[in-house]
Amino acid sequence: MDAYIDNLLVAPDPALEDAARANVGFELPDIAVSPAQGKFLHLLARIRGARTILEIGTFGGYSTIWLARALPAGGTLVTIEYEESFAAAAAGHIARAGVADRVRQLTGRALDVLPGLAGDPAAPFDLVFVDANKPDIPEYFEWALKLTRTGSLIVVDNVVQGGAVADPGHPDRGVRGVRRFLELVADEPRVEATTLQTVGAKGHDGFTLALVTG
Ligand code: DHB
Ligand code: MG
Repeated sequence: MDAYIDNLLVAPDPALEDAARANVGFELPDIAVSPAQGKFLHLLARIRGARTILEIGTFGGYSTIWLARALPAGGTLVTIEYEESFAAAAAGHIARAGVADRVRQLTGRALDVLPGLAGDPAAPFDLVFVDANKPDIPEYFEWALKLTRTGSLIVVDNVVQGGAVADPGHPDRGVRGVRRFLELVADEPRVEATTLQTVGAKGHDGFTLALVTG
């Protein structure tokens, strides 16, 4: 079904396809978002009219490129990556996609980098996409709230994990991180949020979408 949708609705794009294959050289799992999901993120950014975007977790730059392509002239996307080798690969893909002029890559532990963005000219961000290590998602959400304003969107990937997230006794630290994040969202008066499950080429997972309301 994803192949059918991608063929019909997602235009061929060699630079994006390169970024999607970034896992091959590193012999890593295929963890970028799917083409249909990438276009969904792109459309969310356009619907929001985002001029500034923050991404936590660059990996090979696949979602970075989709989101950067949603920016108007003069827009900025800041993306944070911990693994130097991923950031280096992403830099090549971002350049090849022709969006390097609007993407600023930062490397380091996101929880060390995020405090430095508080006074950044790109902040507050119109959209934050969280797609990094799962145990720290609650802390990334807290930072996303600090670095956004009313009307901003916060999108978080991998909040279903094959349904593991519904298991209150699950031992995995990532699953527990997602559960703690969802509980924070539920108790957070400054956002209105939902979570949508997704199924397709990347298995069964999901996104949380939160609108900052105050
Ligand atoms: C993993 C990370 C992701 O961001 C994803 O979308 C899928 C899997 C992982 O670390 O296994
Ligand atoms: Mg992900």
